[in-house]
Amino acid sequence: MLQVTDLTKYYNGQPVFSGFDLHLPAGRFQVLLGPSGCGKTTLFNTLTGVTPKDAGTITWQGEPVPHLGDLCAYMHQKDLLLPWFSLMDNALLPVRTRGGDMAAAQDRAGQLFLRLGLGGYESHRPDQVSGGMRQRCALVRTLMFNRDLILLDEPLSALDAITRQRHQHLLLLLQTEFGKTILMITHDVDEALLLADDIFLLTPMPMAIFRRFSPEPAKPRAFDDPKLLHTKAGILDHLEKGGVS
Ligand SMILES: Nc1ncnc2c1ncn2[C@@H]1O[C@H](COP(=O)(O)OP(=O)(O)OP(=O)(O)O)[C@@H](O)[C@H]1O
Ligand SMILES: [Mg+2]
Repeated sequence: MLQVTDLTKYYNGQPVFSGFDLHLPAGRFQVLLGPSGCGKTTLFNTLTGVTPKDAGTITWQGEPVPHLGDLCAYMHQKDLLLPWFSLMDNALLPVRTRGGDMAAAQDRAGQLFLRLGLGGYESHRPDQVSGGMRQRCALVRTLMFNRDLILLDEPLSALDAITRQRHQHLLLLLQTEFGKTILMITHDVDEALLLADDIFLLTPMPMAIFRRFSPEPAKPRAFDDPKLLHTKAGILDHLEKGGVS
């Protein structure tokens, strides 16, 4: 579905990444795991055209494109909900800005609110709900873009450990229930192990993939699965050796 070849991005004359390659087949859940500041968000911004690439090709469904732009839904590291809008209005923003059948969109958003445990909070403003609810709302908005590919930049980073575990299963639903292809950034090894078909370990800047893991047991997975624990030990070992925190 997505092929990235030789992607290169410089900031202030320094390569954030140079010759970066990535292949993401349709339906797969891939996770990028790397140290703070290595260039993960910059990669997403470059892929989506938020910031221009300096070199390389991005191929979408076999066709080269300048960037993914509207071809994917991009959930940013910060939830970027508009504070003066209700949760429902925030969720409907993609439809408001792009146009489309508003009644059908409201219907769909209402169902997603229920599915993600936000039923009854449609008219609350973001500052009237918890961080976890804001992130679920951002997830609904991401789904409202109705794209096959979703880029998630640390979607659960604002949550405490317990809420985070609950939400990890919601992210899995994106793949299993909504059939999305997902590229996700996280710092959390357990989260990566629970969700990913492929985990890519990244070096510090200039960012490159130095190891790939494809955890074995079928999903949904349990944290205490022996195969998963074995993969986790391998990942932690590589993170230590690779100087990646
Ligand atoms: N707009 C910008 N202009 C100049 N340098 C930038 C810009 N955005 C990011 N950088 C630099 O690029 C490098 C990579 O930043 P980036 O935000 O991509 O890292 P990250 O891997 O997403 O980090 P984190 O895990 O903390 O979110 C950093 O050194 C950062 O300071
Ligand atoms: Mg980042």
